[in-house]
Amino acid sequence: MSMSLTGRKSLVFGVLTETSIGFNIAAAAMKAGADVILANAPGRPWAIMSRVSHRLPKVPLVCMSADVTKPGDLQSMAEEIQRDYWKSLDGVVHAVAFAPQDALGGNFLNTPFESVSTAMNVSAFSLKALTASMLPLLEKSEFGASVVSLTFNAGVAWPVYDWMGPTKAALESVNHYLARDLGPKGIRVNAVDSGPITTMAGESIPGFDELAKVWSERAPLGWDTSDATPVADTVAFLLSDAARAITGQVLHVDGGFSAVGA
Ligand SMILES: NC(=O)c1ccc[n+]([C@@H]2O[C@H](COP(=O)([O-])OP(=O)(O)OC[C@H]3O[C@@H](n4cnc5c(N)ncnc54)[C@H](O)[C@@H]3O)[C@@H](O)[C@H]2O)c1
Repeated sequence: MSMSLTGRKSLVFGVLTETSIGFNIAAAAMKAGADVILANAPGRPWAIMSRVSHRLPKVPLVCMSADVTKPGDLQSMAEEIQRDYWKSLDGVVHAVAFAPQDALGGNFLNTPFESVSTAMNVSAFSLKALTASMLPLLEKSEFGASVVSLTFNAGVAWPVYDWMGPTKAALESVNHYLARDLGPKGIRVNAVDSGPITTMAGESIPGFDELAKVWSERAPLGWDTSDATPVADTVAFLLSDAARAITGQVLHVDGGFSAVGA
């Protein structure tokens, strides 16, 4: 059993710019031998993704679009993959999150439920929605498929992260329940808890830089907020046979920050 992804078919959802954790995951999966389909929200995100996709180590099979909050979009995407590209999927990566500005940056006590609901829908419920839509393809994997999402340690409250915190707690819980329900089908479901990375989503959080600075100072191994490759390599590991007995877990890839108190 190895960490090779040769011959594995992977869908990586949430590739925007070259800084995106999703972009780095697609690159790591390709380097390990995987064939990759990219996906992002329709319109501008899809257009930006299509441009930067040329900078990946291999050309992705196709760049698709779907809004994760629209069940019809996800359904069509699954049908299109099955009709035009692959009969099965060995890996699905969920690298998607969004919260309206009034749900972030120190407004926790005043955020209206409408904004919380949007953040929950895009960032947490979507893991179930995406996985369930792709289930007919995942079930046909001859290797035992693997679903991986990205979280930010939901065990404690952070400065400025505000309602993204509860969405990550929900995502981590969805991760457990999907692992419970899909394990008997041979499908593994895990999350990677990444330390702060300077991406579009990261930088849209007011005060993100201060959090990132503390991380680099305190993490036992240090932490480079401009390098998502350690996170991407761990996702590639979780997609591989080397992780065949791992499911329902949240792996901390944070330079060891979560292991120390001060
Ligand atoms: N950047 C960090 O510090 C950090 C830390 C831990 C976890 N994460 C998580 O990593 C994942 C990827 O984020 P990133 O930091 O690479 O940022 P990013 O901005 O590069 O990626 C977020 C992606 O979500 C997509 N998206 C937003 N709304 C969508 C919708 N309705 N439908 C479809 N796609 C939609 C965006 O287009 C974008 O591609 C997220 O789950 C994020 O919470 C990020």
